[in-house]
Amino acid sequence: MKLILKICAASVLLITAIGPLSTTMLRAATMDPRSVKKPEMTSALLAGKQLYDAKCAECHGVNTVGTNKGPPFLHRVYHPGHHGDGAFFYAVRRGVKQHHWPFGNMPPVPGLTDEQIKSIIRYVRALQDANGVF
Ligand code: HEC
Repeated sequence: MKLILKICAASVLLITAIGPLSTTMLRAATMDPRSVKKPEMTSALLAGKQLYDAKCAECHGVNTVGTNKGPPFLHRVYHPGHHGDGAFFYAVRRGVKQHHWPFGNMPPVPGLTDEQIKSIIRYVRALQDANGVF
């Protein structure tokens, strides 16, 4: 009996410890797109934005702030040291199994050439840079 009580107490402690962590993540995903600082938009960045808006914004949000279907890229998790450009190619080509967030899996995104993926990455990195992610 005592053991069961101890296990219960331990799980309550665990839940209270993990709870705030997941809310922090969810809160990061509902940033106001208007609060995002814009990099100076060159024509290369504009081309990346158009592709991003067409293929990624549905889940990763306008200005990469995230939505209820996908995470924001303006987050330290997506710092280039943690998710390098290769992770973007991999995600687009193969999709991503849910592992960092509670949004579910990302399906592969068809219809993009390597050059177009590079262009999207350039745009995402410019937004990260302008907003202090690195
Ligand atoms: C249908 C929704 C959806 C679309 C469309 C989408 N993504 Fe994702 N993406 C997700 C979700 C959800 C995750 C988070 C998976 C996790 O870590 O739990 C994710 C994660 C990622 C990651 C992180 C991969 C990793 O290794 O952790 C990258 C990079 C990424 N997406 C890039 C893109 C790009 C670029 C596009 C547009 C070409 C795009 N995504 C379109 C839902 C989407």
